[in-house]
This record gives sequence, structure tokens and C-alpha cells, in this order.
Amino acid sequence: MCSILGLAGDHDIASTLIESLKKMEYRGYDSVGVAIKDKSDILVKKGVGKVNVVNHDLSMDKMSGFTGIGHTRWATHGKVTKENAHPHMCNTNSVGVVHNGIIENYVELRKDLENNHGITFKSSTDTEVIPNLLQIYFERLHDVKKAIMATVKKLKGHYAFVALFKTGELAGVKNHEPLILGVGRTDLLLTSDVVGLPDDISSAIYLENNQFVIIKERKHKIFDFEGNVAQFVVKTIPKNYQNVTKESHKYFTEKEIFEQPETILVAGNDEEHLDKIADLIHNSDYVYVTGSGTSYNIAVIAKYLFSRFAGKKVEHVMASEAKYSSQYLIPNSTLFAISQSGESADVLEAVSIGKKKNFKIISMINSENSSLARESVFSIGLNCGPEIGVAATKSFTSQMAILYKIVNKLCDGCIDVNFKVISEAYASILSDVSEIQKLVKDIKDIQNLFVIGRGIHYPIAKEAALKIKEITYIHSEGIAAGELKHGPLALMDGSAYVLVINPDDDSYVDNISTVNEIKSRDAKVIGVSNKPDANYDYWIPIPTVDPALYPLVEIVSLQLIAYYLAVERGIDPDYPKNLAKSVTVK
Ligand code: AGP
Ligand code: GLU
Repeated sequence: MCSILGLAGDHDIASTLIESLKKMEYRGYDSVGVAIKDKSDILVKKGVGKVNVVNHDLSMDKMSGFTGIGHTRWATHGKVTKENAHPHMCNTNSVGVVHNGIIENYVELRKDLENNHGITFKSSTDTEVIPNLLQIYFERLHDVKKAIMATVKKLKGHYAFVALFKTGELAGVKNHEPLILGVGRTDLLLTSDVVGLPDDISSAIYLENNQFVIIKERKHKIFDFEGNVAQFVVKTIPKNYQNVTKESHKYFTEKEIFEQPETILVAGNDEEHLDKIADLIHNSDYVYVTGSGTSYNIAVIAKYLFSRFAGKKVEHVMASEAKYSSQYLIPNSTLFAISQSGESADVLEAVSIGKKKNFKIISMINSENSSLARESVFSIGLNCGPEIGVAATKSFTSQMAILYKIVNKLCDGCIDVNFKVISEAYASILSDVSEIQKLVKDIKDIQNLFVIGRGIHYPIAKEAALKIKEITYIHSEGIAAGELKHGPLALMDGSAYVLVINPDDDSYVDNISTVNEIKSRDAKVIGVSNKPDANYDYWIPIPTVDPALYPLVEIVSLQLIAYYLAVERGIDPDYPKNLAKSVTVK
């Protein structure tokens, strides 16, 4: 959630900072701000809105100074206002801070700072305590390192922050929120995400939890919270994470949907790790699969795939719910954690609960240096390249492809899966979107869209509904088709629309009965199927494939429906309101 940046260079850095903020905007985009140290002071500019808009109004990129910090916010504490936008300054304007995460004890810290130190707060954020604590300790101890050590002793919660001192030092602190130090020839850039690195920085140090870095005169030193000098490794950033653009597409979401014929071919292409993961699952009495949002839908799909094709029982656990059922989790089990970003706080919490129960942690991630990867004994990479659109699209099909690969190892190749065939099916869906475009023109003003499917198509229905509500703002529910008659049928009338996921497999006949029940109540039916049916008001055709493979195929048509519906409704699908790509708070 939110992006934090700190940059120390040998030139005016404001324009570089703004370019990096633009690239990181997918992490949070309700407000933006920078603080730059010029010859003597720290100057702050900030405002509500996206980077381009605020920069246009305030010319943040024209500020002068060689050291600075920047932020794009996803508010957790305090409304979306200019006052609450970061950076936040201490009362003496000598320390500025940008922050990602939550300071859980900020209420008591604020009271103490107000009552015992005469501090006046200008915002209602949890963040503003940090620059004031740093300033008080710096004044007392005359040393940035000691001031940071004293400050972090006071803070509770998961956070990362970057602080700019009037004395010229830049400091980055990591405690369970991501923070990376990009090391360039002249510049050092602290960032939440490698995507924020400028093109000329291709090496980075991933800070560990409870570490901080101090940058002075463009030299860096890393310490742990006890003040000991920390060892670090400089890693090379994969080329495809640098300078990520929309290419010829209007939106990242469109680009990422259309990349799937290629990304599906490289998902989990690491036989050694796939074997290790499959072996561990095979040899474990109990396997839990966890994730959030789209990645949780994958966990549900895992249950269907593993039981049906490999006779292996796995249980799905919604990551944000793990702590409320932890007493039922059986010790010494295996936890398969799924996360595109590898940074979702809920997933990391489920992992830490698992670790306390002596679980073996395996994971599926898109970034090999993510926190989740570092917590795992083995992880397998999606290899689908950076996903910028807030709605997960290509990562979902890559995750599913990896599940199929693992299951196939467990069942000695019982599924006839050829990813070239899937890739061709994607290309054929993407080459003709005319039926989808006609559909979205007709339904663009509806208020509810139900999505139904049976068996393994039920989590696909949930995923489609998640995409629809996320980027079109139309209320959408994914419902197990057989459950319709147990309640939701009450909502069927002439104004209702139901998307039926209805490939020609063992769910087909039952679905056709459900379609008849829906039509008897005058609701409109949109069939996503390889077979037409007279009852469909709209038919979105999908290619015919081996029945076991339909989940991999149908989802692309459903993503396209959500995407074109968003565009038809005039919504920017890359930046849906109130959301952010990587949810690093609980
Ligand atoms: C998906 O479209 C959502 N943006 C969201 O549900 C997402 O899948 C979830 O936050 C989990 O993210 P992760 O895979 O990076 O952990
Ligand atoms: N808690 C801080 C705020 O609400 C930071 C939120 C974030 O991580 O974006 O401003």
C-alpha cells in the first residue's frame, strides 16, 4: 500500500523522483507529495489526486535540491486531504517523513508528544508522530543513527519509512513493509518496489526486517535495530521490471490481458522447484493453501484440482481469516501460500501463524525477492513480468497453470495439458472481441451482475465477479449455480443479468436446467460457453478444449467482459477507486 521513495543524487533530483512516483502509483494513488532539501531548508509540496495532476498544479518536478523523499498514498488513518498527504514534517521543519504501513500505538504517542513535548499536529495521520520523534531524539542525541534506534523502540506496528534530515542525511527503515535500496552509479534510491527504480539503476539491496540504512554524501550504511552493522547482498534487477510501459495499449490492464498467450507458456518453468513442491505436497498429511482476493480464488481452485485429479485433499484458508481459525490448523502441516506480489500483509500473517505451528512454507510468487519468497522453503515463480493493473489478470492464469503442472506431477500426467494449445485458445479469444464489445454496450448501465458456475467453475465465477466489481463498480456476485434455487433466485426478474460459465463438461447439463429456471423468471442470461443455447440472450463463445482445461480458458473471456465494461463505463481500470495493487496492511 502506498509507495515511499528517497533519493540522493549529485544533481537536481525532483524530476527523477516524480518519474519514479508515476511508475509506483499503482501502489496507492489518492494523494501525492515530495520534500526536497535545497541548500538550507526542506521544502514540501503535496496535494490530493494523481501524480500528473498534482505535479501539473504544483510543478513538483521543478524543485531544486539533490536529496529528497516522495510518496503516493493509500490512506489508512485520516481522510484523503492535502494535510494528510505525505511527506509529514516535524514541528521544527528539520525532519520530513514518508511512510508505508500503520503505527498502531500512534494515539498514545501523539498524546505524549502533545502533553510532554509541546508538539502540535497538523494532520490526522498515524505517520506524523515519526518525524517528531526523530527530531526530538536527534536534538537529544545529535546522531541520526541513535535517533532512529530510539524512535523505532517507540513504534508499534508494521511499517517502512524514509526520513529526510535537514542535516542532509536520508534514512530508510524497514519493519514488515517492503523497502529496497537501488544502487546506481551516482544515485541511491530508496523505494517500496523495484518498479520505481529509474532506468539507469539495475542493482538493488533488499533490506531485511528490523534494518535501517543511512545515506550520507551518497554513501550508505545498513544497520539492524540494535545498531549493529548489517551484511547485505546486491542483486541485479530483472530487465523486464525496468521501464515498464503500456506499449501500444490504452491501459496496463488491457496490455496484461493480451500478454496471456505468452505468459501462460512460461509460468512455473522450473522443473526442479515444481518437483520439490509436488514431493512436499505428496508427502504431507495435511496441506493448507492460502491467499487473498484473486490468489485466494486460486487456493479454492487448488482444492478442486488436487482432489479430482490427484486424490489429494488440500484445504483452503482465506489468509485474512487464518488467525480466527488457527486453533484448527494441524501442526507440522504444509502451507502453500499464493501471492502475486509476495507482499500481502494478510498472507504474510497466515505464514507467520503457520510457522508458529511448525508448518513447512511453500509459495507461488511473481517476485523472487519478495517477503513471501524469503519466508518459504521452496517457491515457484509465475514469471509473468510486472503486473501493474490493480486487477490481477495474467497472474491468475499463470497461477492456475502452475497448479495444473503440480497436479499433473502428482497424478503422473493424468491431465492432457499442452500449454501451447491453451496459448492458441487465448490468441483466438483475444483476436475477436466483437461479441464482448456488443454485450458491454447493452449492459453498461446495469446495477447487478450475477456470475454462476458449478464445481471448479464456481471459484472462476468468484474471480469473474471480483474483476467486475473491482474495475466496473457494478455489484457482482459469484454464486455456485446449484445454490441459486436456495436463495438468490429471489433476485431474478426482468432487470437481472446472469453470466453463466457453461463449458461442455460434466457441469453442462445441470447448468442448462439452471438457465431454464433463470429464464422462467425473465432474467437475462449471458452464456460463456463453447456451445450455443437457445436460452442465452447473449452468447460469448470460447474455444473447445479438453474438458479438464476449461477453467484456464473461460477466465480470459470473463476478464475481457470486465475490462471492456469498465472502459464502456468510462472507468480507468488500472486505478480503481479505493484500491491499491499490493495490500501491505492488515
Ligand atoms: C485482484 O484483482 C485484487 N486486486 C486483489 O484481490 C489481489 O488479488 C489480492 O490483494 C492479493 O494480492 P497478492 O496476490 O499480491 O497477494
Ligand atoms: N498510515 C499512513 C497514512 O494513512 C500510510 C498509509 C499507507 O501505507 O499508504 O497516511
